[in-house]
Amino acid sequence: MTHITTTSGNPLIGQCSVPGDKSISHRAIMFGGIAEGKTTVRNFLDGHDCRATVQVMRDLGVEIEVLTPTELVVHGRGLDGLQEPNTVLDCANSGTTIRLLTGLLAGQKFTSFLNGTAQIRRRPMGRIVQPLRGMGADILGRQNSNYAPLGIRPARLHSVEYDMPVASAQVKSCVLLAGLYAHGLTIVREPGPARDHTERMLGAMGAPIEVIGNTVHSERPSTPLKGLEVIVPGDLSSAAFLLVAGAIVPDSRLTIAGVGVNPTRTGIVDALLEMGANIQFLNERDQAGEPVADLDVRFSELRGTTFAGQQIVTMIDELMVLAVAATQAKGRTVIRDAGELKVKETDRIASTVTELRKMGARIEPTADGFIIDGPTQLIGAPVESQGDHRLAMAMTVAGLVARGTTTVYGSEVTADSFPGFEITLQALGGSLKVEE
Ligand code: S3P
Repeated sequence: MTHITTTSGNPLIGQCSVPGDKSISHRAIMFGGIAEGKTTVRNFLDGHDCRATVQVMRDLGVEIEVLTPTELVVHGRGLDGLQEPNTVLDCANSGTTIRLLTGLLAGQKFTSFLNGTAQIRRRPMGRIVQPLRGMGADILGRQNSNYAPLGIRPARLHSVEYDMPVASAQVKSCVLLAGLYAHGLTIVREPGPARDHTERMLGAMGAPIEVIGNTVHSERPSTPLKGLEVIVPGDLSSAAFLLVAGAIVPDSRLTIAGVGVNPTRTGIVDALLEMGANIQFLNERDQAGEPVADLDVRFSELRGTTFAGQQIVTMIDELMVLAVAATQAKGRTVIRDAGELKVKETDRIASTVTELRKMGARIEPTADGFIIDGPTQLIGAPVESQGDHRLAMAMTVAGLVARGTTTVYGSEVTADSFPGFEITLQALGGSLKVEE
């Protein structure tokens, strides 16, 4: 177990980068495994969740060479080349691994079992089991098939037309992947713009994926999927902690190079701009089918704002650190329509409120979000990560503007999505240290 100790005072100044995007790293390994030929993955996120995906794909017979921790080569086995695993597939703490993989495995000719940590066994799986069963999948899970462990038996899938009740890229991707193994045209309709990395990458591999407005179609490819060269953009969800730190720590000015700015992910930038932040996109470019830019942020005064509706899904992983920004904004910030926060790594409404209140934040939980009044001079305090990587990083950012010392216990989880988080902040001048 480690903890981070922070104090305020120093501005954050300089150039930095963030590790590769988590969502894209998972997909490059999984989809590379069912393509034919080599998929090379550069700037892979060497974090705990993505390592679980590598191990699981190896257990399914896919050879994966690790040239360096961030450069991998996947030797694809083709759509029908996966092998029956002789072990339970361990998805560790990773929701993306278990949900996408269940879609990929639902139409195979072999049986598989999927499990993960206690945290993953508390997260809802009914949302994927139900549409997959609608396609003819034979899946069983704990508590009426709502929770992992999951067992999947061979099945012949047929297509489905599925109206997703919640905007979720994991559910959408799961059904689209099953659609690659189904007879007929699978149609998924989404209530909001959930991240579209699956559609982009499968499309680039030659899968018949078509996006029409808010619907996505998938069907069995008539030709093999082709391996790709994937250069994973920096993860905007990791950059978000630096963007907020740069916006709220007085006199800061920093540039984050090479960040993915896919429009289904940029809600946090729009939100901070609406609050009055000074952020610029520099050097915008395309990198293997994903838009990328360098992000420049400078300290500025923020104002409270209301966020709701379709913008929420485009910043679902960033709402905790947005709450930290809101504690420093003048006036009231309201975040609504974010009930999905309750089923993430922790109940992120409850966990954010509990930990930020320890530092004196004026934050109220609601059924589907938070109400935050600011600005508040936060007071340094001992706080907990609660085993949630994004909470650990959000609280560290809060510590950078608090009076006195903040200690974030259980901070080792930052490596789930942002290995090097602490070193990056230190290099920018942030006053923090990590101790065992
Ligand atoms: C992800 C989708 C989101 C996000 C998660 C990664 C993905 O989850 O919160 O961190 O890679 O598809 P939901 O789709 O369940 O909202």
